[in-house]
Amino acid sequence: MQLIREKKQITRIVQNWRANGESVCLVPTMGGIHEGHLRLLARARKNATRTVLSIYVNPTQFAKNEDFDLYPRDLKKDKDVILESGGCDVIYAPENMYGRSHATTIDPGGVAIPMEGTVRPHFFSGVATVVYKLFSQVPANSAIFGEKDFQQLAVIKQMVRDFEIPIKIISHKTIREKDGLALSSRNQYLGSKDRAIAPNLYGQIQWASNAISSGLGVEEALKKARQTLESIGFNKVDYFDLRRASDLRLCKKAEPKTRIFAAVMLGDVRLIDNCELK
Ligand code: PAJ
Repeated sequence: MQLIREKKQITRIVQNWRANGESVCLVPTMGGIHEGHLRLLARARKNATRTVLSIYVNPTQFAKNEDFDLYPRDLKKDKDVILESGGCDVIYAPENMYGRSHATTIDPGGVAIPMEGTVRPHFFSGVATVVYKLFSQVPANSAIFGEKDFQQLAVIKQMVRDFEIPIKIISHKTIREKDGLALSSRNQYLGSKDRAIAPNLYGQIQWASNAISSGLGVEEALKKARQTLESIGFNKVDYFDLRRASDLRLCKKAEPKTRIFAAVMLGDVRLIDNCELK
């Protein structure tokens, strides 16, 4: 397993693999590697003859009040965890992502507008720009993203379609703790009291999903779930919506291929989750 820190070097390696007829799959991450990332990587190993996992804590997708400084950065630990789980061909951890004169950003519309786009206005511009750069630096056949960040996945698919980027986007189901909490690098910020409350986010998504399938009105079910979350210790519900998976439009009644999307604050920690309606 090689560690590459230079843009030009990774591009050369991947171009050589591709020239030799190998297939390459990229798993973009910000590090703090956990089982969720590792399952994406395992899927990548099945999907291609070569795998690259990128680690870069991208400053442009954090707002000033967010956790950029706090975000876990332990390359040695990440490397060990990745190796233990079966490894990849290259960990690409660029030292210098943005040149000093970098002046171009992608401004995604469409599926980037609601939910995270409303609460964190610059977030998807930061994500789309860095992922576009990663796709240029690592000219892979495919890249894998998790459904845990379903809106992010939709924004990337939209960008790939709109810019005709020659890469296949593969989605992977959300990996959860036994108690239902979706794995996230941010879970480690939770104190023991909040950690005990956190699984209720998925609990309420499932409750609302069951209630809607059993005939409760969508608005009523979503409202009840929001109220429950706020009454059991979440300090804020940013959104708790039923939306169409294809275009993320709000749904007023149960339809096939819809998902419940939720984002909450628990103390200082922001948690997001989503699940297909049963
Ligand atoms: P990060 O939060 O490190 O996540 C990297 C990838 O792992 C994303 O595709 C995310 O959806 C996936 N992932 C995280 N937790 C998961 C879980 N519990 N189950 C399944 N997949 C999970 O998302 C980012 O980094 C960044 O925004 C990035 C795309 C790298 C751009 O900077």
